Formats: sequence, C-alpha cells, structure tokens
Amino acid sequence: MALITNDEINAIRSKANIVDIIGSYLPLTQRGRNYLCVCPFHDDHSPSMSVSEEKQIYKCFACGNTGNVFTFVQNYEDVSFLDAVSIVAEKCGIDIDKRKLKSNNILINKEEYEIMNFAEKFFQNNLKTEFGTTAMDYLNRRGINEDIIKEFGIGLSLDTSDSLYNILLKKKYSASKMLELGLISQNADKNFDMFTRRITFPLWDKDGNIVGFSARIYRGEKDTSKYVNSRETKLFKKGETLYNYHHARDFVKQEKSIIVVEGFMDAIRLSIEGVKNVVALQGTALTKEQINLLKKLHVKVILCLDNDNAGETATLSNGEQLVKEGLEVYVIRLSGEKDPDEYILANGIEAFKNNIASSMTYFDFKVNYFKKNKDLSKTNDLALYVNQVLEEVANSNDEILTELTLKKISEEYDLSIDVLKEKIKGFKKVEAKEVKKFVKPVKEKKDAYLQSADKILFYMLNGGEFIDEYRKKLGFFEDALHREIANEIIYYYQKNNTINPADFISYVSDKDTIKNEVMDIVSDGMEDDISIEVMDGYINRVDKLMVKNEIKRLKIELKNETDASKKIKILDRITELKKND
Ligand code: UTP
Ligand code: MN
Repeated sequence: MALITNDEINAIRSKANIVDIIGSYLPLTQRGRNYLCVCPFHDDHSPSMSVSEEKQIYKCFACGNTGNVFTFVQNYEDVSFLDAVSIVAEKCGIDIDKRKLKSNNILINKEEYEIMNFAEKFFQNNLKTEFGTTAMDYLNRRGINEDIIKEFGIGLSLDTSDSLYNILLKKKYSASKMLELGLISQNADKNFDMFTRRITFPLWDKDGNIVGFSARIYRGEKDTSKYVNSRETKLFKKGETLYNYHHARDFVKQEKSIIVVEGFMDAIRLSIEGVKNVVALQGTALTKEQINLLKKLHVKVILCLDNDNAGETATLSNGEQLVKEGLEVYVIRLSGEKDPDEYILANGIEAFKNNIASSMTYFDFKVNYFKKNKDLSKTNDLALYVNQVLEEVANSNDEILTELTLKKISEEYDLSIDVLKEKIKGFKKVEAKEVKKFVKPVKEKKDAYLQSADKILFYMLNGGEFIDEYRKKLGFFEDALHREIANEIIYYYQKNNTINPADFISYVSDKDTIKNEVMDIVSDGMEDDISIEVMDGYINRVDKLMVKNEIKRLKIELKNETDASKKIKILDRITELKKND
C-alpha cells in the first residue's frame, strides 16, 4: 500500500482554511489582517496566538508554538502528523484512503503489530469454535453480544495444546519475538502461552494499536487472579494507556466530557448502552501520562469510580491531581451496586445518565468527604470540619466559590461571616498557593548572519522568483543547516513548480534535522510583506558577512601555513575577496 503523497497532502491543506479549522476548536477574533485567540499550548491569559489567513500559518507570540493547519491539529489533539492530515481531511469533507496514513510508529514496529493483530484474531476465532461455548455463555450472561465482541475484539485463549505459541511458530515468528511482546513466558527452556483458558480483551495504545491483552477467568475458578494482564513490553506501557481512549476520543467533543471508570468492563458496559465518551483506568491511580492524555481532550473529566472505599479514596487523590493540572473535574458516586457495570445492569442506563446530569463538582465532593466519620452536632467535629472546608476554599483562589461557601457555612452552622473571613486569611498566609506563571522560553539570540539567512530562506518559500534571486545573487550559505534547507526548498520547487510556507511545513514534518529551524523561519516571517527589494537587502548583508568570515578564516590559515607558494595563493585570495567587498 502506497503512502499518501505530498501532492495529496497539499491538496487537503489548500482546501482547508486554517481560520475555519482553528476556529472549530477555539473562538477567533479578527484583528486587522490576522485572527487572534488564546493559545491552547501554554497557560495563556490574553490572546497570544495569531492566525494568518493569507499565509495559512499560526503562531503564538508567547510560547512560540507555530505551524500550518496540520501542525495545529497535531499539537491540539496530540496525534501524529498523518493523523492530523486525516482529521483535517474529514473536517473538509475530503475522502481519503485511511490505510495510506499509517504512522511511522506502525512502519517501525510493523512485525510486532502484525503479531498482536494476529493474536487478537486467533483469540476471537477460538470463541466461535466448540471450545468456546462456555465462554460464549458467560459473555452472553453478562449481556455481551456478537457486535460488542467484535467492537472490543474480545476472544478466548485455549489450553496449551492449542496454543498461540504453536500457531505463531508455524507462521514463522520467533519465540524471542513472542517473549518480547509478552505473549508467552519461558520456564526451564520451555515456552508457554501467557494467557490460557481465559477470555481475552485486547488493550490498545492511545492511537488504537493493540499493544497487550488482559484476560479474565470465566468458569468460577478459585485461587487465581481474576485478570491476568500483559507485562510491560516495548509496546505495552500500562501507565501510558487508558482503556478505550481511541474510541472515546471521537465522542468527547459532542458530549464535552470524558467519563473515567475503574474497570474496563465498566467502560464496555457504558459503551454498549451508548455512552461512548468513557475510558477505564484499569486500576485506581492516574499516572502523569494518563493525566496528559485526558488534558489533551480539552473537556471536563467526570470521575465515576467503584462504590467502595478504594474507589472513594481514589476519587479523592485522582481528582486532586487533575484539578492541580487545571482540569475541570466532576464526580459521580453511585449507590447500591459495586461499579457502573452492575449499576447499569440493575437500574438501567437512564438511571446512570441521571447520575451524570447531577454529578457534583470535585470541590463539593471533597467538602462532603470532610464530613465523613464526623458528628457535626459535636463542637469538636464541627470545628474540624469548618476548618478543613475553609482551608480548601482558601487554596482554591476562586473568589466566587469562596463567597458562596462562606455564606453557606455561615447560615448552615450559624457562624459569623466575619470570623470565617478572618480565618481564611490565616490559611492563605500559610498555604498561599503558588500560582503557576507561564515563563516565556528564552531563545538564544541569533547573530546578524543567522537572522538574515533565516529571512532569505523565508522569502524563498514564497515563490520561484525569490528562489531564482537567491541562486543568482547568493547561491550558498556558509553554514550547513541553512545550506540544507535552501537545497530542500530548491528541490521542492523543482518537483512541484510551486511553493508556499504552509505546504513546505507539511513537507518537512518528518525531517527531524531541519523541521524546527523551518518552523522558526516561517514563524519569524509570518508578519512580513514580501518583496524582491527587501530580500536583496538581506542577500547583501549575508554576502558581506560571509566574505568577512571567509577572510578571517583565510588569515588564520595563512598564519599556520609554512609553504611559501601556498602562502601567496592564500594572500591572492584574500586580496580578491577584499576587492569585491
Ligand atoms: P475490578 O475488580 O473492579 O474489575 O477491577 P471489574 O471491572 O469489576 O471486572 P468484572 O466486572 O469482575 O469482570 C478493576 C480493574 O482492575 C484490574 C482490571 O484492569 C480491572 O478492569 N484488575 C482487577 C486486574 O488487573 N487484575 C485483577 O485480578 C483484578
Ligand atoms: Mn465489575
């Protein structure tokens, strides 16, 4: 399968107006020729991001994030460049063959993904055989039908006689590869399937590639753990995945929220019932990477963990972390059944949806939590409770929340609001929360040569006449990086017969050595009015500086040279250079 061509990528880009695409994520306001918005890539408080409709480029003047329409989507949705191309195409109603957009990651780990996909198919097929009837019965009893089995890739691992190991060997895959992927284990030089006689659930990375499995007992076995999970491998990093993330991503936008549950069976149940903006932790504690995945969705998080003590404590600690990271957090605490799966089976999805509609803010959850194990009719407990709430409010740095909470407590427990206010001041002093301020990254200042060379390259990105001008009047740069970019620009133009900064950004998206510099160059030039005359100014400057540097270099060479005739040659060259200067 051929990969997508640059022409196809450019065609999508030219059909997509960057103002519309960014505008579909964030509110934009027109200011002169450009549009402004609050930058989503740093903690921005004033509109620092500028979007140029004319050049089809955006740039944040504070944090420096810059690029074309694909770069924006790539950064905003935290997807690969090619996934961003696919998202933009979809937004513009352009049909593209998704198979052409395989990410590099897939190409690098081609065999590994092949094996994982094969394992999934093998397990799935087992379910349909005579060995699968008991497992099928179990799944059906849990309300999991054929469609769901397909959607979630559910399967069955068999006894050692019908092992995945044997079938993969027959397909010429090595045991060491299977070991590396965590599909088998080794004991006394013998190889065993990692999962036997269990119902298997594939686990995906954030992009939907199968990276591991979790496998459940189904015949009421005792003395063994309910689930066996893949060990950490080069593909499977438990702390970096959230179950169902790649499915849920498509649904969070319309729901404007993501529901986080503990078990993946809970996520599957919600999905079956049409609530598809759901991910599962597969445990209780959120990792930093998982928090980042949630952050990238730019929606509020609804925590709906199990109805037990562990679930409650986990709600507290996870909620705390999410709030600290600036996310808007809501909490659902179910009553009656143990987890969302059982709750829905017992009460129906509408009852669960009512819980979503009436979910409380994390702040309210925490305030409620403070009441636990206290008897508020006792002075001691009440004092402790009020103090805990006040401390919480003081830390929130939210004036309205503070005002409302003080009023409520003052009325509910008949306390003077002035006393409460005084008390809050005390908490603020001790626990004054550090307000994280965005610090503009310091960039090394470029010298006159590099600044002008950047400008010349920017002009070259704006059309053939500028490229000709460079070739006629300058022809090369003294440093390798600018030389390489100039060569790429010339090559690109010869191939495409047309050039503009926005398309060139797509072209360099996988060229690691020059990508950052090209981004810098384009973002620096975004506001420029382009003309040959101005370009000539930069060319002259670079030319002079390069001559000066060359003379400097020759003088050093002259000093070190012992051969007389060679010395003369160098001297001639210096004189010649000085003449033209
Ligand atoms: P739960 O015990 O809450 O699972 O564990 P569950 O979703 O209710 O599962 P069912 O309904 O009994 O099938 C929550 C998560 O913790 C992990 C799994 O990822 C599970 O989804 N877990 C649990 C394990 O890894 N191993 C175990 O033995 C149990
Ligand atoms: Mn359950």
